[in-house]
Amino acid sequence: MVEPLSNPVQELASNGGEPPERYIYRGSDGIAPSFPLLEVPIVDLSCFASSSPLADQELDKLRLAISSCGCFQAINHGMSNSFLDQVRDVGKTFFALPTEEKQKYSRAVDDTEGYGNDSVLSENQTLDWSDRLYLIVNPKDQRKLKLWPKNPESFREVLHEYTMKLKILTELVLKAMAKSLNLEENCFFDQYGEEASMIARYNFYPPCPRPDLILGVKPHADGSAITFLLQDKEVEGLQVLKDDQWFNVPIVPHALLINVGDQVEIMSNGMFKSPMHRVVTNSERERMTLAVFCMPEADIEIGPVEELVTEERPRMYKKIKNFVSLYFQNYQQGKRPIDTVKL
Ligand code: OGA
Ligand code: NI
Repeated sequence: MVEPLSNPVQELASNGGEPPERYIYRGSDGIAPSFPLLEVPIVDLSCFASSSPLADQELDKLRLAISSCGCFQAINHGMSNSFLDQVRDVGKTFFALPTEEKQKYSRAVDDTEGYGNDSVLSENQTLDWSDRLYLIVNPKDQRKLKLWPKNPESFREVLHEYTMKLKILTELVLKAMAKSLNLEENCFFDQYGEEASMIARYNFYPPCPRPDLILGVKPHADGSAITFLLQDKEVEGLQVLKDDQWFNVPIVPHALLINVGDQVEIMSNGMFKSPMHRVVTNSERERMTLAVFCMPEADIEIGPVEELVTEERPRMYKKIKNFVSLYFQNYQQGKRPIDTVKL
């Protein structure tokens, strides 16, 4: 039995009026009227695939990017512009359906998967101005197809195809990350595993009447190894924290924004940074993104690669299995999950 959750933010937005109190963000970092733009390095993935003469230069760029801001814009990833448009379109079409139609795929109150928004766990929790569709994609036998929209008709096939491409890119990127540190190329990938899990989350941000007071997503770092974010083609909103300041992340229309998650920060003994990020809203236009979180196999123990533990850089993190479950326990209590595995 699927129980109704709180109203979709999309409905709150279309009803107009003042947004409910519990959406007002009370963090001390605040929401300024404008923000500087972050220069996110653009990395050409095609240089890693073959014995390209540009490989070394691109590896340097990658290492600098993920050891400073924790993210980069990946181009030449092998997916056509029209295919990425399709990936966005199936999501946009889904969110444009009538509420009753979307609610056929609602998540159950005690579950994270499906269509819905924040679980309300306490009265003073601040809610995010977004609706989501959250689906486990891998391992395949864990897919709950009843939560995968049948409308639009191509939804399942498009999401399947997109995530299969990302699976290949994940291996490529994890190997490039290792090579960029002159390590054996499999040292991160071995900890990740062949049967790693992948979770797709379409994020829908309706226009918000009070962008000065409300966030689309509160500050967090991802619990993944790496995350692929397909941004909205036209509407910005993502911000990354760097040197204690929030920066807007620019849109590069056909690039994939790849960010380091907590688990690669752990494996790299802190060389690579899992950046804090959040989403701001705007009062004019809706925004939709698709985040795909790539997580190591749950029963593989992950920990700092031995070569990265030195006298100058002592071990920073404990070894841990199934970081994701620890992540959710701490996230709900407002703690930064990675802090609980710091030594
Ligand atoms: C996320 C996330 C950013 C965005 O889903 O974890 O950070 O721009 N999304 O939607
Ligand atoms: Ni995120």
